[in-house]
Amino acid sequence: MIKNWFRNKRKETVTFENLTLPALHLRTGGEQFRDNKYFVHSAQKEITRLKTHFGLSGSSVLLDIGCGFGRLAIGFLSIGDPISYLGIDVNNNAITWCDKHISSRNPRFHFIHLNLQNNRYNPKGKSIDLNFKLPLDDKSVDVVYLYSVFSHMLQNDIKHYLRELSRVLVSRGTVFFTAFAEPDVPTETVNPPGYQNIEWKDALHCVRYNHDFLLTLIEESGFTVDEFKYGEETEGQSAFYLSKT
Ligand SMILES: C[S@@+](CC[C@H](N)C(=O)[O-])C[C@H]1O[C@@H](n2cnc3c(N)ncnc32)[C@H](O)[C@@H]1O
Repeated sequence: MIKNWFRNKRKETVTFENLTLPALHLRTGGEQFRDNKYFVHSAQKEITRLKTHFGLSGSSVLLDIGCGFGRLAIGFLSIGDPISYLGIDVNNNAITWCDKHISSRNPRFHFIHLNLQNNRYNPKGKSIDLNFKLPLDDKSVDVVYLYSVFSHMLQNDIKHYLRELSRVLVSRGTVFFTAFAEPDVPTETVNPPGYQNIEWKDALHCVRYNHDFLLTLIEESGFTVDEFKYGEETEGQSAFYLSKT
């Protein structure tokens, strides 16, 4: 019986080019991430983007919000770049995986679980409200990265996060995020039928925003949009490049 339990237990890692990656069933964000090469190369491309457009350097502190099962951190490990890295996520399984397979062997990578509510990833967490604070000091972060995170969050939660990002970022700090952003659509729509030819299902699978509404939120939170790239990211999300005003 014990033998069967071990046989049935799903593996939590795969090895690819000497890197430990999350097993395929743990990966999120679209089918393409199930390809090991794509998974690692996509993260390497993101690191190039952060260096080229967000001023990321060896002395930067990088905050990866919604780090999931460590895609960006694994990208850094694959190229051997030194970086001060903190990943946070509401999914405790993801943070446990990252602690076990990334920070235990690479102590300069830190991961923190935030027990906050997200109906898709942590429905029993504490709701995010005006008292919400990231576990970071004022002006302690240079670059914030959120890939495919606001695309699963409701507007009030995004508002509280943007307020906190403004607090923890240094005065010339930068933010990269992706979101479903369209002109001429309602302010916020959860799982819009037929959008991007995908059948969105389950809680917060896709939260689509009106582009102008997002711009207002961003500006009210003390950020400027330096660049906007429409529809080029996973599942048709757009990329926002921000700096603190
Ligand atoms: C689609 S996955 C993207 C993972 C990773 N950023 C990547 O690109 O591989 C979205 C992640 O955002 C996390 N998330 C959702 N709401 C969050 C919140 N309020 N704070 C931090 N993480 C959150 C989820 O738990 C999940 O790991």
